[in-house]
Amino acid sequence: MNILVSGGTGYIGSHTCVELLNAGHDVVIFDNLSNSSEDVLDKIEEICGKRPKFYKADMLCPDELESVFSENTIDAVIHFAGLKAVGESVAKPWEYYNNNVCGTLNLIHIMDKYGVKKLVFSSSATVYGDPAFVPITEECPLGITTNPYGETKKMLERILSDYQKAKADWHIVLLRYFNPIGAHESGLIGEKPNGIPNNLMPYIMQVAVGKLTQLRVFGDDYHTPDGTGVRDYIHVVDLAKGHVAVMKKFEDAPGVFIYNLGTGVGYSVLDIVHAFEKANQIDIPYVITERRPGDIDSCYSDPSKAEKELGWKAQFDLETMCRDSYRFAKKSL
Ligand code: NAD
Ligand code: WQD
Repeated sequence: MNILVSGGTGYIGSHTCVELLNAGHDVVIFDNLSNSSEDVLDKIEEICGKRPKFYKADMLCPDELESVFSENTIDAVIHFAGLKAVGESVAKPWEYYNNNVCGTLNLIHIMDKYGVKKLVFSSSATVYGDPAFVPITEECPLGITTNPYGETKKMLERILSDYQKAKADWHIVLLRYFNPIGAHESGLIGEKPNGIPNNLMPYIMQVAVGKLTQLRVFGDDYHTPDGTGVRDYIHVVDLAKGHVAVMKKFEDAPGVFIYNLGTGVGYSVLDIVHAFEKANQIDIPYVITERRPGDIDSCYSDPSKAEKELGWKAQFDLETMCRDSYRFAKKSL
């Protein structure tokens, strides 16, 4: 298939482009490079021996999207483009709603104009809020989001589902990612946030390479075995392969399909710290601090629907996630 990847130079997008190319698909990327760099294209080419076609285009600019669609015959779109920093979304709600919601509305409008009716959307476990139960199945009710970023994901799931009701020949797949970490085994691509990282693994990576002195563990009084927050960390390459598996789903009848992409295993913050130390033979100094506002005790998936319907299951263990994260950190940070 010829697949258009929005946000394809970003963290999850770049790993997905590698897996799509390795699986024999053709890839066209558009990205406005607001949170990624064009160098990623060289790295993708170095890994796969193939270079995706690239457009520097902003989904807020219909003219730029028009060029992408008029110059290519697209079979399906995987839509990663968006702003994703939870804290920043609280400070800049207008930018988040405008970019993520208006950008996606522009994208589906142009898809409709060019008769492209297959879409994968990057959603998030954040839509479950403080989940009604764990492990979380896709039937778990959507929860109350605590920030504009999470709300854009919830709104877009609703918008895309409503859209499909009116356009019955569209296939829309909503993928709810849990906590992606790790990097490609080559160490060439990975996650490189601007400024001080908000998320756990990027923070640990900076402590590991000496850019930050110690990790702050946000609270040790949660209702979890060791008191620190429990999450479902998934290797980004496994996540990327989940998108390749979805391409086969497009051969079935149209509709809206929702899948959790996680491992089904929950690890605490201290589990992650100790696993990283063991996998990489390095000390990660840490201090226990106050809880971070909005954080929850436990969030991990029941990923069995994706296994049953997509034939996809995460393969990489925590040790590999930690090793691959550190390899990328040493090369790039
Ligand atoms: P990322 O920031 O690395 O990638 C997103 C890409 O989108 C960036 O390259 C950025 O330049 C591009 N972009 C942003 N706004 C754009 C616009 N208006 N037009 C064109 N390009 C634009 O983020 P990521 O971690 O790879 O996340 C990809 C998607 O997955 C996002 O939608 C994110 O919300 C979602 N997601 C991420 C996580 C996570 O923990 N990383 C978890 C759940 C869901
Ligand atoms: C994980 C655990 C923290 C940093 C966020 C978004 C979510 C999704 C993934 C996109 C928690 C603890 C963290 C630190 C710490 N993104 N922690 N010290 O909060 O599960 O999810 O990213 O959709 O929407 O909310 O991930 O990596 O920030 O935190 O102790 O410096 O690590 O308290 O228990 P989170 P995270």
